[in-house]
Amino acid sequence: MPIFIVVLLWAYVNNLRTVSFTGVLSTLFFVTFEIPAKVHDLHTKTVLLAIIVRNDAAIYIMQLTTRGDYMLRVQTLNKIAPSGLKLFAAGKYTVGNDISQPDAVLVRSADMHNRNIPSSVQAIARAGAGVNNIPIDLCSERGIVVFNTPGANANAVKELAIAALLLASRDLAGGISWVRTLEPDENVARAVEAGKKAYSGPEIWGKKLGVFGLGAIGTMVANAAAGLGMEVYGYDPYITVDAAWMLSRSVHRAVSPEEIYANCDYIALHVPSTPETRNTICAETIAQMKDGVRIINLAREDLVCNREIAQALDSGKVAVYLTDFPSAEILKMKNVIAIPHLGASTPESEDNCAAMAASELIDYLENGNIRNSVNFPDLTNPRGGDQSICIMHKNIPNILAQMSASLSEAGLNIENLSNRSKKSMAYSVFEISGLCPETVIDKLHTIEGTVKVRVINNR
Ligand SMILES: NC(=O)c1ccc[n+]([C@@H]2O[C@H](COP(=O)([O-])OP(=O)(O)OC[C@H]3O[C@@H](n4cnc5c(N)ncnc54)[C@H](O)[C@@H]3O)[C@@H](O)[C@H]2O)c1
Repeated sequence: MPIFIVVLLWAYVNNLRTVSFTGVLSTLFFVTFEIPAKVHDLHTKTVLLAIIVRNDAAIYIMQLTTRGDYMLRVQTLNKIAPSGLKLFAAGKYTVGNDISQPDAVLVRSADMHNRNIPSSVQAIARAGAGVNNIPIDLCSERGIVVFNTPGANANAVKELAIAALLLASRDLAGGISWVRTLEPDENVARAVEAGKKAYSGPEIWGKKLGVFGLGAIGTMVANAAAGLGMEVYGYDPYITVDAAWMLSRSVHRAVSPEEIYANCDYIALHVPSTPETRNTICAETIAQMKDGVRIINLAREDLVCNREIAQALDSGKVAVYLTDFPSAEILKMKNVIAIPHLGASTPESEDNCAAMAASELIDYLENGNIRNSVNFPDLTNPRGGDQSICIMHKNIPNILAQMSASLSEAGLNIENLSNRSKKSMAYSVFEISGLCPETVIDKLHTIEGTVKVRVINNR
């Protein structure tokens, strides 16, 4: 019996929650003890495979299995595709829209600006690219990691962009609407032949296309348009190495927006909405463009000044404005083709976004890894050591030294340290041998600039 008590004490000290003993050999003996956990442990593991105890006539082989006790709670603010929901393992996650005190939030378009975000929230994932519906600054201050799913809907938008190039050239929308007005009688064919010339338009082959923004969508659009025989100019002062690798060699690198305005017959916007990109298309820039330019905006409404493009459409300077963002000023205008925000509206895109957003949350909650965050740096680690001390903090001098000192003073060996910063915020992961006492965690919290400390048990 004393051996059981010793094992239970040992398990408690080591934060183990459920201890099951399985006795075999001379006597069958099954029993499970529940003991309270000090730290929520998400991982099921077998700690000790066998202890052989000689107890007079009986010999027992005992197996100790610990099971993570803590069900992670994920609140969904919109309907999320099953491809994402199924990734949250049953028994480990509780997922739903009526979850209180969630560890994480999964959202599509629901506006979170005026919503209370509980203190339990560690991360928010947006199944989509834009994050305008999430209060990013507030999240950064509170150490909440905000993820998005760049590229997950890129193919859907690329395909719409190709359709947009064709719709902006051949008046398919006008022609189809006109055909619907014809009387369904024996004169239809004659009426079609007589009226069709009003809907003719140029081919895109050999024309010049300027693409603003060579990210996930812009690179695909540029490559596809080049494949359709267009001469493509791309402008992106912040292009990533990965995007540059993806870009067809036939795409010209424009060194300035002016180069695109001066040369291109078609201009496609694939940039995010930022103070720098807002009103990219306005009276001043339109004046630098070729007469009869066709403009395609599948990115964000405020990249284009609606009032000023309406004037340019009236004068014929802009031949066609195709947008995924209908608005009152342009809705009824001739030569405006307004699509009801269908850029990412494909089942494939919703599946990809949901699966990517769910994977990002899971990897962060379980392993502390950050991929595709808009407010904290990317950082991925193979988990090592007994515990990972994950700290969100301000990007300021001397803070890492203070954290390392706090751990070292407590006699904890730092096996591995990873640190990355993004603008004013930073993320550090200390992988330590041994278990970090709560007093040390409290001390880490008091270091100026520390925003959040999270402990993940690795063994
Ligand atoms: N219509 C829709 O339903 C829909 C769907 C998805 C995305 N979008 C929009 O499309 C945009 C692009 O999406 P993505 O997935 O390609 O994003 P992305 O982040 O992969 O690419 C954006 C690119 O724009 C570049 N950029 C930023 N500022 C620039 C500037 N001033 N000039 C030129 N380039 C600049 C960036 O360097 C980046 O390469 C998104 O921001 C979003 O607003 C719309």
